[in-house]
Amino acid sequence: MMRIAHTTNELRNLIRGFRFTHPPDQTVGFVPTMGFLHEGHLSLIRLAREENQYVVVSIFVNPTQFGPGEDFAQYPRDESRDVALCSQAGVNVVFLPSISDMYPDHPMVTVMVQEITGVLCGEFRPGHFDGVATVVTKLFNMVQPDFAYFGQKDAQQALVIDRMTRELGWPLQIRVCPTVREPDGLAMSSRNVRLTPAGRQVAPLIYRGLTEARRLVEAGETRVYRLVAAAREIISADPGMTIQYLECRDREFLASLTVLDRPAVLAIAAYVDSVRLIDNVFLEPVTRSLDDRMEG
Ligand code: PAF
Repeated sequence: MMRIAHTTNELRNLIRGFRFTHPPDQTVGFVPTMGFLHEGHLSLIRLAREENQYVVVSIFVNPTQFGPGEDFAQYPRDESRDVALCSQAGVNVVFLPSISDMYPDHPMVTVMVQEITGVLCGEFRPGHFDGVATVVTKLFNMVQPDFAYFGQKDAQQALVIDRMTRELGWPLQIRVCPTVREPDGLAMSSRNVRLTPAGRQVAPLIYRGLTEARRLVEAGETRVYRLVAAAREIISADPGMTIQYLECRDREFLASLTVLDRPAVLAIAAYVDSVRLIDNVFLEPVTRSLDDRMEG
């Protein structure tokens, strides 16, 4: 039977109970979320279910990762539906903390990851990744998972969390799972419900543009400006779309690239109907055989 923990103490008691009554090789898998669950979250939960004996899902709309004027208040919420979905998916514990359970009245500690948080979303959402790193640190300390699951749609977030986890030597592994898409390619996101019917028609241009860049890479294009230009032309074809950034960066340090000579991510944030959507595709440098290279 699925249990619901509303406080850190309730959560700790449940996890302690599991660890105490199970052999040490049985693992805890953790899926942190902000709720309003969709197929993307459910794919993470299913993988966690397959790989672990105990699965914890947290649902917490974290105020510190939203800047002033961002959509914290409008972020969609549906706790009872989320709890039912978790139960159907075989989750063992849903953690539903309150803001006061996660943050004291006068917080003095923020976790910050340098460099890779200053670009892409970090450039346009100052402080966003500090909020993410801080809340994820707290959640990891509370849940003490063996594995934690994140979606590739938030590629920069996954990189930040993986970096933080490895650099601080925490005994857990970060698993990054493929983006789940609607049939027309739009990346699933809790924010998609805020699109108008007209905006919903425009939004799939994002993935269409990204896949065009990937197609060009497969055809041998390595000049990054050509890839970005091709994607931009498709994505900005409709006036309902406003691109905030569209950039190709390497996947380890998020350094800007001019030539696709290492594993890269082509990442975008764009506004449709004042809803901010993000997406990305990974681009792999085409390795040419020695024969090809000798031919020029
Ligand atoms: O990806 C999210 O939903 C959030 O950023 C996370 C990781 C749950 C932290 O609040």
